[in-house]
Amino acid sequence: RIVSVIGAPMTYGQPFVGTLSSDALSFCLIFWVCLQDSGPALLREHGLLEELAELGWKVEDIPDLDFATIGAQAMQANPSLRNNPNAKNSIQVGAGNKVLADLVESKLKLGRFPLILGGDHSIGIGSLAGILRAKPETGVIWVDAHADINTPTVSESGNMHGMPLGIMMKELTPDRRAIPGLEWLDEGPHPSPYLSPDALVYVGLRDIDKAERRFIRQLGIKTFTMYDIDHLGIGRVMDLALEHLLKNDPNRPIHLSYDIDAVDPMHAPATGTAVRGGLTWREAHFVAEHVVKSGSLASAEIVEVNAALSDGQGASATVELGHQLVNAMLGEAML
Ligand code: ARG
Ligand code: MN
Ligand code: MN
Ligand code: MN
Repeated sequence: RIVSVIGAPMTYGQPFVGTLSSDALSFCLIFWVCLQDSGPALLREHGLLEELAELGWKVEDIPDLDFATIGAQAMQANPSLRNNPNAKNSIQVGAGNKVLADLVESKLKLGRFPLILGGDHSIGIGSLAGILRAKPETGVIWVDAHADINTPTVSESGNMHGMPLGIMMKELTPDRRAIPGLEWLDEGPHPSPYLSPDALVYVGLRDIDKAERRFIRQLGIKTFTMYDIDHLGIGRVMDLALEHLLKNDPNRPIHLSYDIDAVDPMHAPATGTAVRGGLTWREAHFVAEHVVKSGSLASAEIVEVNAALSDGQGASATVELGHQLVNAMLGEAML
């Protein structure tokens, strides 16, 4: 099988861009990382693509998407639009995700396995849009400390990396044309389907906003928090997660959206919104390994590896974990 490695170095969905102080701005100009994240490049280091080839994959390496340029061009095309504090940088987030969605859709339709290297979690908008256009029946496992199901109306931060699921659910965002930059989701001959609440399972949650808690309850979303992992063990949790998605259709494709902040900050400190009490090294791997073992994994992404947000040692530890998790997603543990 062919894996299409897609670098999606999005930063506009998280707070370290946008409202920049002059200090932060000069930092950004020196390091560039504020507009174009180093995650994909760092994850590719240490021979990742060669390792995937050794696992038996044919590797198609796609150049990183240039979200800095795509975002700047979108801003130029809409000079009158002011930045919306309820959905920060939505023009840039939207424009970048439109390109990502088209790419993911086309690779899936060629029968390839899209492996998306983020970037902040706002890229979930584009990956889900592309995936649901190609395979609307897809089920999603969202591994995260956070629920990422805010909407511009309820978000306490306005950061769009906390909103991908809220934007991709009809119950929460019935008209996505109301969000500047995201009109494409509901326009054109081929709009992007929404994700049904029962097509989603959460694993690893431990930092849920008030409105998100309400949404999860109202929509009845299957959720395994850290409490459930402590209580049942990761093995049982992953069995139940897969059972929820596969019980009516054992052949259903699964997308794994893996936020590195699901893992304990001891192993993954270089991330924007670290929360203590996360997955252990082995639990983190088991999640990916068990989804692979089901035979249903059709696409995957790893997000929020942000080397700029830690010292050198923390950054390399986080990248190393991300690298290992990608190997796990592509079947390294399978005999
Ligand atoms: N719930 C918070 C917010 O909406 C944090 C979201 C963090 N999301 C992430 N992908 N790391 O701002
Ligand atoms: Mn390696
Ligand atoms: Mn998170
Ligand atoms: Mn997330």
